[in-house]
Amino acid sequence: MDGLDSFRVRARATWSSGDWDSFARLIAPVGQLIIDRVGVRPGVRLLDVGTGSGGNVAIPAAGLGAEVVGLDITPELFTHARRRAAEAGVEVEWIEGDAQELPFADGSFDCVTSTFGAMFARDHGRTAAELVRVCRPGGRIAMTTWVNDGFVGEMFTLTGTFMPAPPGVQPPPLWGVEGHINDVFGAVDVTPSIERQIVDFDFESLDDAVGEYAENFGPFVSARETLEPRGEWDEFIAAFRDLVARFNSADDGTARIRSDYFVVVVER
Ligand SMILES: C[S@@+](CC[C@H](N)C(=O)[O-])C[C@H]1O[C@@H](n2cnc3c(N)ncnc32)[C@H](O)[C@@H]1O
Repeated sequence: MDGLDSFRVRARATWSSGDWDSFARLIAPVGQLIIDRVGVRPGVRLLDVGTGSGGNVAIPAAGLGAEVVGLDITPELFTHARRRAAEAGVEVEWIEGDAQELPFADGSFDCVTSTFGAMFARDHGRTAAELVRVCRPGGRIAMTTWVNDGFVGEMFTLTGTFMPAPPGVQPPPLWGVEGHINDVFGAVDVTPSIERQIVDFDFESLDDAVGEYAENFGPFVSARETLEPRGEWDEFIAAFRDLVARFNSADDGTARIRSDYFVVVVER
């Protein structure tokens, strides 16, 4: 297996562990914002990259009459996606694939979206180039990335300090730096607009937040498999608890974690 294949196997194992389908509710407002930004209308051909279980962009966009393809490296999530689409009474085509090697001809889509999906591909420049390539001239690309000094950006940096990215893999928090976003899209001759936004994650308490991540968030569930045998899991989770406390704005015993993200829009 070459480096790229083993990266893909690891990514799939990561996101199929835990329970992304239930976690996805936390970023539902972001999905709605992206649908608004690309201007979904009946008949629009839309590709949602790193679609997960589809509930945040692919399925609502299909509900508005778009012709939607949802692509993800983790086909296990399509079981949830198919159930959700059936419940919503919409058709979506679900395709297994990697954001940095999209299995579509140039200009196949009017809109290309990705809510915190494409940012996990291994090579950021290739990924940006692929998002642009499959969008038709005059179409629109809208992706979101976690700001590197916001809650999720710092969470992935923390994970990276315990488990550094293997050689050749660009760490996801780089997508949280405006200059990097400009560079990767600039390399394919497009200029992104970058807007900072906030989403709040609500939990019953700080302990509930930490427990939910430990039990249900795929990257944590797979990190535990590595860190527990090394005796580092308790230290990791204690550092994560401090991070949650630092970003928690609630003062009534619940947890409201503020997380900053970028909305990156490219007019093709
Ligand atoms: C944080 S989840 C977001 C899912 C979805 N966009 C949503 O809003 O619920 C990240 C998703 O990206 C997918 N993913 C990770 N790396 C990928 C890659 N290289 N290509 C395509 N999908 C990828 C994961 O399988 C996972 O479904």
